[in-house]
Amino acid sequence: MLGIIAGTGFYEMKMLQNAKVEHIATAYGNAAVYLGEYLGKKLAFLPRHGKGHSIPPHLVNYRANIEALNSLGVKRILAINAVGSLKYELPPGSLVLINDFLDFTYGREHTYFTGGEAGVGHVSMCEPYCKAWQKEILSAAKNIGIELFQNGVYVATQGPRFESPAEIKMFAMLGGTVVGMTGVPEVCLAAEKGLCYGAVSVVTNLGSGMTDNIAHGEVVGVMNKANAALEILLEELAANYKAERNCTCGSDSRCV
Ligand code: HPA
Repeated sequence: MLGIIAGTGFYEMKMLQNAKVEHIATAYGNAAVYLGEYLGKKLAFLPRHGKGHSIPPHLVNYRANIEALNSLGVKRILAINAVGSLKYELPPGSLVLINDFLDFTYGREHTYFTGGEAGVGHVSMCEPYCKAWQKEILSAAKNIGIELFQNGVYVATQGPRFESPAEIKMFAMLGGTVVGMTGVPEVCLAAEKGLCYGAVSVVTNLGSGMTDNIAHGEVVGVMNKANAALEILLEELAANYKAERNCTCGSDSRCV
C-alpha cells in the first residue's frame, strides 16, 4: 500500500475515496491515519501535524506515525514537506525531489533501536531515500508535466523557529538545497522499518537572509497554491502503484 505523509498546508487528500479515519494504537503512541482508495487501490494518508495543525515539528510522534503505517501494510511512503530554499535558482513554488539529508534536530525520539528488548541496531543511511522509488516519483512527475528538481539535500532543523541568516549561509555552504523541520527522523525511522521512503519538498520561501522576513502565513499560502500540482502527482503515483519492490529497502543489506 502507498502511504502519504504530508505537513504544513496539505491537510486533506481530495482524491481519497471512501475515506475514514483510523486511530492506530502503537507501542509508541497513537496515530490518526486516513484510509481510503483511489481507482480501487488502497491508500493511507497521514497529516503529520494532526487535526488543525496542532502538533509542532519537534513534537510530532514520528515513531508512532511510521509504525502505524507499517502495521497497516504500507510499503512505500511519499512524504511532502514545506521547506525554505537555500538556492536562488529554486524560488517559492519549486518542487524538489530529495536524495539525502543533513540532520540538525535534537531531543527527538529518533530510533526504534532503544536497547534492551527493543534491541540494538544501526540502519544504513547509504541511500536514505529509496532510489527505485525516486525514479518512479520522477517518472510520474514527467508523465504529467510537473518539473521536479532532483538530488535535493534536505537540511532538517529542530524548529519551531525559523533559521537565522548565518545558519542559512552555513547550511548552503554545507551542501544543503532546502531547509525544513520535519524530514528527520521520519526518513530514518522508515528505513529502520524497511520501508521505501521518498520525499518531495515544496519551496514556500527563500531562506532567512535571502529574502525579507518569513511568515508562517506565507508558507501556508504558497502550499495552498502547490496543492493542485501535488494532488495530480499523487493521483498519477497511486494509479500506477505496484506492490512489488525492486530495491533493498526491506532487506538487511540496504544499498548492496
Ligand atoms: N525553514 C524551515 N522550515 C520551513 C521553512 C524555512 O524557511 N519554510 C517552510 N518550512
